Amino acid sequence: MLVQRNKLTSKMKDIIVLCLLAFVAGASAQCSCRTMKWATCDGTPCTCTLLVGTGVKQTVNCDQLIPKCFLMKAEMYRAKNNLSTRSIGGKPVDTAFVDNDGIYDPECENDGRFKAVQCNNTETCWCVNSAGVRRSDKGDKNIKCEPVETYWVRLEMKHKPINNRPDLAQLKTGLQNILSSRYGLQAQYISEVQFDADGRLIVVDLKKDKADRTVDLSRMSYYLEKDVKVLPLFREQNKFSVDVNGNPVEMENILVYYVDEKAPTFTMQRLTGGVIAVIVVVILVVLVGLLVLFFVRRQEKAKYSKAQAREMETMS
Ligand SMILES: *[C@@H]1O[C@H](CO)[C@@H](O)[C@H](O)[C@H]1NC(C)=O
Ligand SMILES: *[C@@H]1O[C@H](CO)[C@@H](O)[C@H](O)[C@H]1NC(C)=O
Repeated sequence: MLVQRNKLTSKMKDIIVLCLLAFVAGASAQCSCRTMKWATCDGTPCTCTLLVGTGVKQTVNCDQLIPKCFLMKAEMYRAKNNLSTRSIGGKPVDTAFVDNDGIYDPECENDGRFKAVQCNNTETCWCVNSAGVRRSDKGDKNIKCEPVETYWVRLEMKHKPINNRPDLAQLKTGLQNILSSRYGLQAQYISEVQFDADGRLIVVDLKKDKADRTVDLSRMSYYLEKDVKVLPLFREQNKFSVDVNGNPVEMENILVYYVDEKAPTFTMQRLTGGVIAVIVVVILVVLVGLLVLFFVRRQEKAKYSKAQAREMETMS
C-alpha cells in the first residue's frame, strides 16, 4: 500500500514536471518573428508572413535575416498605405555605387533574390545587382540584364562623439562581435576595418569570393543601414551599438557602397560632370587664346602702321 502510494505520487510528480516542461517549451517557442517587426506569425508549426502588396503575403524565414527584396516590397506597401516606415526619402548623397534611387517596388524571385530587371511598376526599366541597386541606365521594358553579384560592400559611418577615443583594434573586435551576434555575419567576411579618429570615420569592407553564393551581403547591409538611419527592422528594438572595451558606441551618417563582380554600365553622373568641366575649360582656353592673338595682331598692326606713317613722314 505504502509502496503503491509512493509510486502514485512519483507518477504525479512526473506528470507535473512534464506539464511544466511543455509550458516552458510553449512559452519559449512563442510564435513571433525575431528578424522582422512587421511580420505576422500564426499556427503550428509557426509560420510568419510579410504583407508586400494588397492581400499579398510573403512567407518569410525568421531564423535568418529577411531578403532585402522582400523588405523593400513591404516598405513600399507600407509607405503607400500610410503605415509607419519612416524610410522613404532618406536618399544617400554622394558618388557612384551609392543607391541614389532610393526605394522602389521590386520584383523578387521566390527565394528573395532580386530579379535582374526592375521596372517599379512602370514602363521604365533598369538592371540591378544582387543588392537591388541600379547598375545600368534606365531603359524600356525590353532592356536586357544578367544577374550580377555584389561581392563587396563598403560601409562608411561615423561614431557618435564619446569621451575616450576608441582604438582601431578594440573597434575591430567590437564590430566583429556585433556583426556576428546581430546579423549572423561570420568574421571571415570582414576584410578590412579602417578608422580615422579625428573624423570619427569608420570604414568597414565586407568582401566575399566572387563565386560565393552562400552569403548575401546586401541583407546585413540593409539591416545595418536601417539600424543606423531609422529604426531596427528586428522585433526587439535594441539600438545598434558597438561595444568598444565595455563602452557602447553608437553610429550615425552611414553610407553604403556596392562593388559588383562586373563594373556597372551606367554613364556615371560624376564623370559627366567632369567631362562638362573639361569641355568648359577647353573652350575658355581657346577663347582666351583667340583674344590674345587678336590683341597681339592689332598691336602689331598698329606698330606697323605707325612705322609706316613715320616712314612716310621722314620721306616727305
Ligand atoms: C496618407 O496620408 C496623407 C497625409 O498624411 C493623406 O493626404 C493621404 O490621403 C493618405 N493616404 C492614404 C492612402 O490613406
Ligand atoms: C518607384 O515608384 C514610386 C511611386 O510608385 C516612386 O515614388 C519612386 O520614386 C520610384 N522609384 C524609382 C527608383 O523609380
